[in-house]
Amino acid sequence: MTVDKGMDGAVAVVTGGAGGLGTAICRHLAQAGARLVIGYRGSEDAAHGLAAALPGSDHVARRAAVEDSAGLAVLATEVAERYGRLDLLVNNAGITRFVPHHDLEALDDALIDEIFRTNWRGAFACVRAFRPLLEAGDGGLVINISSIAGVTAIGSNIAYCASKAAMNTMTMSLARALAPKIRVVSLSPGLAETDFVKGLDPDWWVEQTRKTPLRRLATPDDVAAAVLALATTMTFTNGCIVPVDGGRPLT
Ligand SMILES: NC(=O)c1ccc[n+]([C@@H]2O[C@H](COP(=O)([O-])OP(=O)(O)OC[C@H]3O[C@@H](n4cnc5c(N)ncnc54)[C@H](OP(=O)(O)O)[C@@H]3O)[C@@H](O)[C@H]2O)c1
Repeated sequence: MTVDKGMDGAVAVVTGGAGGLGTAICRHLAQAGARLVIGYRGSEDAAHGLAAALPGSDHVARRAAVEDSAGLAVLATEVAERYGRLDLLVNNAGITRFVPHHDLEALDDALIDEIFRTNWRGAFACVRAFRPLLEAGDGGLVINISSIAGVTAIGSNIAYCASKAAMNTMTMSLARALAPKIRVVSLSPGLAETDFVKGLDPDWWVEQTRKTPLRRLATPDDVAAAVLALATTMTFTNGCIVPVDGGRPLT
């Protein structure tokens, strides 16, 4: 048996690709030889800067607002015309805001809708748009960046936890529906230091570190290394939730 541990020539779309985790994911994939389509919504300059700075060549930054299904379809056509293939879609775009779980009034309908529109519907819309391209090759992969919050129900707010739990069942449904051409996996990080968790109470941060058996939080590189492993060596992994959390749920 031969094991190809690289991604030479492969093409990957990463939504929210210029964010904290997205940047590390793009970097790891590019280092392995992949060509990146870096999706952004607001971070246009950062995305173009990243495309220019990544190792390798033929990377592009493109607007990919995941609530805009029509725009995603246009992007899928462009990826097909430019590269003629898509090997990996990383549904990484996501939003949240901190709302204490007991404060039901503060979790208003607008925030709930925005969270589900982005975190769940947006990820589904990306799979729908890129499915034909992923199916056309010899083994497409979708990695949904979920969260430990989707399993523990502990996280920035109740709707965020629910959106990630819903993402996990989407992973299972799609893995069944799209097999054998496309694998679908949830990757479930624990707390990681990015803009996403700005404003978090520092005491909570310390407590989460203490409660993690490995005594540290996740880094963007931990998450990116897991993405690369799923794409290159963990090729029989499908329809499940892969944790990157240092064992946090054990305590
Ligand atoms: N950090 C953590 O502790 C942690 C833990 C578990 C899971 N996660 C998950 O990891 C993912 C990345 O988070 P992060 O920590 O890297 O946060 P981040 O730095 O805030 O990045 C989030 C990214 O999502 C993009 N995004 C937001 N709304 C979008 C939309 N409607 N359309 C397209 N892109 C959109 C943003 O793009 P623009 O800037 O271009 O608008 C941004 O690049 C999220 O799904 C999050 O739920 C994070």
